Amino acid sequence: MKILAIESSCDETAAAVIENGTIILSNVVVSQVDIFAVYGGVIPEVAARSHLEAILPVIHKALDDARLTVDDVDCVAVTHTPGLLGSLLIGTLTARMLAILWKKPLYAVHHLKSHIYANWLGDGEVPQFPLLALVVSGGHTQIIYMRDHNQFEIIGSTRDDAVGECFDKVAKILGLPYPGGPAISKKALQGDAKKCKLPHPKIDGLDFSFSGLKTAVLRAVQQECGLPITTPSYELAGHLSEQQKADFAAAFQETVSDILLEKLEMALAEYPEVRSIVLAGGVSANQVLSRKALERFRSEGLKVYFPDLQFAGDNAAMVGAAAYFEILKGVEPTDPYKLNIAPRTPIQ
Ligand SMILES: Nc1ncnc2c1ncn2[C@@H]1O[C@H](COP(=O)(O)OP(=O)(O)OP(=O)(O)O)[C@@H](O)[C@H]1O
Ligand SMILES: [Mg+2]
Repeated sequence: MKILAIESSCDETAAAVIENGTIILSNVVVSQVDIFAVYGGVIPEVAARSHLEAILPVIHKALDDARLTVDDVDCVAVTHTPGLLGSLLIGTLTARMLAILWKKPLYAVHHLKSHIYANWLGDGEVPQFPLLALVVSGGHTQIIYMRDHNQFEIIGSTRDDAVGECFDKVAKILGLPYPGGPAISKKALQGDAKKCKLPHPKIDGLDFSFSGLKTAVLRAVQQECGLPITTPSYELAGHLSEQQKADFAAAFQETVSDILLEKLEMALAEYPEVRSIVLAGGVSANQVLSRKALERFRSEGLKVYFPDLQFAGDNAAMVGAAAYFEILKGVEPTDPYKLNIAPRTPIQ
């Protein structure tokens, strides 16, 4: 089965053709990251306009790269939630139009399912059920228990900031560019994580909290610079040497990874039947996090999976994978005249 998949939930316009959920026939991503690097974050209206310009050429390229025509495609899949409303609107309206014009079934896919299913792409070994998925992205931080394909139970969530958002905000404090995750990782290579001790939030159960950690970095930087706590965050970077920035980046990255993995370990104690650990979302590209996850859980006899780097952030290949496994489980297509978008709908 060949699925033309479309993704536009934030600031990447993407289309891909995926065969049988794992084979990547094409994968096209046009990122707006250069536009938003200038502003230090996404401006929703600008993102929506950029999607509008890019979406049809991106879809054409996905079909051309796969050497396919519309007739070869079995169905269309598109992200419908969660995300920025204007961005989602462009992808879903395009997918609806194509499904109607081409008379193809349309599948509406949850963005976080797609992040998880990025782990099924390619010809490598695939995760075994039951599994625990750690979804770490720009807008979400969740631990999800999956007994089987397309069965999702959220067992832990952030109570405030998402971990990717926290990377982006800490990068701003340190004067590093947007997006903050890759910038912090790069800077941390020259840093010594032991130079600064950051706290672990005290949250009961499997939930997370990252807003306190962000403030802890702010206070530590203010203290390091000998400045009062009233000093605005945007004035701090100019007082830090490159080495100090690298040390803070390394300490933050280590602390975040440890917090995430401690909670995963707790989840594992509650779900001892779990056979695989799956990392998903943009922050799964973080190599300290993935290395620590491998070290920690392999010794417990578990398989640890994280997506290929090109599929960690937003892309449409993962949408095609998620749609395929929904279809296998008997999920019905969506009426293209009735497809709704929503900024935030929990995975279910
Ligand atoms: N190497 C890295 N280390 C840490 N964080 C990273 C890395 N690479 C990317 N990120 C972070 O990943 C986030 C983007 O991930 P993603 O594209 O999955 O999020 P999103 O689509 O904006 O949000 P969501 O998926 O929750 O809707 C950004 O916050 C970015 O800083
Ligand atoms: Mg995403």
